[in-house]
Amino acid sequence: MFKEDLLKGKSILITGGGTGIGRAMGHRFGELGAKIAILGRREDVLRNTAEDFKKDGIDTIYHRCDVRNPEEISQALDYFIENFDRIDVLVNNAAGNFVSPFEELSTHAIDAILGIVLHGTLYMTLDMGKRWIKSGQKGVVLDIVTTYAWTGSAFVVPSAAAKAGVLAAVRSLAVEWAQYGIRHVAIAPGPFPTEATRKNLFPLPGMEEALIERVPLKRAGTMEEIANLAAFLVSDGASYINGEVVTIDGGEWLKGAGQFNDLLKLSKEDWEKIRSISKKK
Ligand code: HXC
Ligand code: NAP
Repeated sequence: MFKEDLLKGKSILITGGGTGIGRAMGHRFGELGAKIAILGRREDVLRNTAEDFKKDGIDTIYHRCDVRNPEEISQALDYFIENFDRIDVLVNNAAGNFVSPFEELSTHAIDAILGIVLHGTLYMTLDMGKRWIKSGQKGVVLDIVTTYAWTGSAFVVPSAAAKAGVLAAVRSLAVEWAQYGIRHVAIAPGPFPTEATRKNLFPLPGMEEALIERVPLKRAGTMEEIANLAAFLVSDGASYINGEVVTIDGGEWLKGAGQFNDLLKLSKEDWEKIRSISKKK
């Protein structure tokens, strides 16, 4: 769907780029000509992904980094900039999440999620942004949030609060940093099953199917679909999109929101009965 050189000449850094959606975005960006830098906590995971990308001809580098640690962020950025000369796009994709009744969480569990998602995203953006501003370089920040960033959701309270904070930062910095040529965009995915979501979010039999049943399009999203959306948003083709969040969820959150959406369950006969009662004779 894109010209093969859509992202040629760009260096793109993806946090959590060793697995799942981050890995899929990195591979797609690479196919479209970008150089890829990935970071995460597990060096072996990063190494494997980088090796796989290189086999496909994608120029890839990695650095171990916990986004909760500003010093590690600074070291990783030094390394990436030394090797690639510059970073043009930062994708804040790293996250931590699990389902749990809120009353059963420890404060440490809350800190773990807020630390990765909210603080980690802001720390990354701060360090990268300072460097861009200092050097007069333009940049793009793409943050991966979720649809419950604006609706909230039971059983993932720290994640919902953190993602809402990230979305607020996207909309705030879109205005504040536009003067430096730094653009901010976000993607809100619905269900895109990954190893991590299967382990932490729908671990029991039937949970994944129930989630997908909520989607009007009756299926999960594919890695290709989300990676293509990300490629468009970080490309120069989207250069006037700033402060926007694009939902990619098959209509899931809207179905949950509309008061009469459950009427989807009604049969043809039910609708005939309704018409016979309510339609003016
Ligand atoms: C209750 C839990 C828990 C669980 C961990 N904790 N898992 N509490 N239920 N399932 C508690 C621990 O007991 C500990 O508290 C605290 O959380 C921190 O745990 P650690 O293992 O020490 O933390 P850490 O090593 O930093 O790991 C972070 C993590 C882990 C978030 C807990 O799951 C992780 O690394 N996840 C990364 C991958 C991931 O989650 N991806 C999903 C993204 S999907 P105590 O008090 O005991 O010390 C997404 C979108 C969802 O975000 C939308 C779906 C449709
Ligand atoms: P994933 O595979 O677990 O991706 C998360 C990545 O973040 C991992 O590679 C992980 O690597 C890294 N990470 C976690 N904590 C980190 C830390 N402290 N420092 C640095 N890196 C860290 O999950 P995913 O499903 O692909 O999710 C990717 C993004 O999409 C997340 O922002 C998630 O909230 C969002 N999302 C996903 C879905 C979905 O259905 N999949 C839906 C809505 C939103 P390490 O463990 O090695 O650090």
